[in-house]
Amino acid sequence: MSGPARVLLVGPPGAGKGTQAFQLAERLGVPHVASGNLLREAMERGTPLGAEVRSYMERGDLVPDEVVVALMADTLTAPDCVGFVLDGFPRTAAQAAALDEMLAAAGRPLDVVVLMEVEEDELIRRITGRRICPECQRSYHMTYNPPADDESCDEDGVHLVTRPDDTLDKLRHRLDIYNREAAELSGYYEQRGFLAHVDGLGSVEDVAERIGKAIEAAA
Ligand code: AP5
Repeated sequence: MSGPARVLLVGPPGAGKGTQAFQLAERLGVPHVASGNLLREAMERGTPLGAEVRSYMERGDLVPDEVVVALMADTLTAPDCVGFVLDGFPRTAAQAAALDEMLAAAGRPLDVVVLMEVEEDELIRRITGRRICPECQRSYHMTYNPPADDESCDEDGVHLVTRPDDTLDKLRHRLDIYNREAAELSGYYEQRGFLAHVDGLGSVEDVAERIGKAIEAAA
């Protein structure tokens, strides 16, 4: 791999994409770009885009492809995004094709796509115990990955909250959507020889090590 790394993490809700992407981006010295975080920030700021996507996100539905693609194109082709760790986008084969197109035009092709695999019971345990920082969006788990202080973000001390789409019924809906799209999305990258399967079970450190090895193998 020459130049800044361009890594994509994919996997079901709760697989640990955000947790790993945050740490990996720091380690590689590149931005962490997460579609869910960008969409939540737009809602938080009350932008027209935020108003448009709110109902989709609150239901746990996918935001329409064209809306997400436009948002991600703005971010991924910006001058400070030559390298990145991307998570949450793409989620459909159509988004994957659009991503390829925008990255090819910017001369920034992906180095590797890491598929994080975690069984459903564990996804449910992870999501129902999750808390996030509303300010920096860092994700915690009250048992598996707690903050140093019970209620506050290690980064900025802001009080942690539960995401409104982390209820069990909304999670089940998100999992159904993921399962509907996953085969086509992973097939898209498998066909192009980009996909590395990584076991997402185990400690955050163990999973990080596996992801690091997958990136090295792709270099
Ligand atoms: P988004 O925010 O992307 O949510 P998601 O994909 O459902 O993924 P999550 O954030 O739920 O899980 P994660 O894999 O990041 O897990 P985390 O690291 O936090 O999207 C939200 C919504 O935005 C979508 O539903 C949709 O509406 C919209 N959207 C976003 N992108 C879109 C797109 N491209 N197209 C259309 N719509 C889009 O970990 C989970 C928990 O587990 C945490 O508590 C963490 O501390 C814990 N944990 C992590 N690793 C471990 C470990 N190894 N062991 C134990 N616990 C762990």
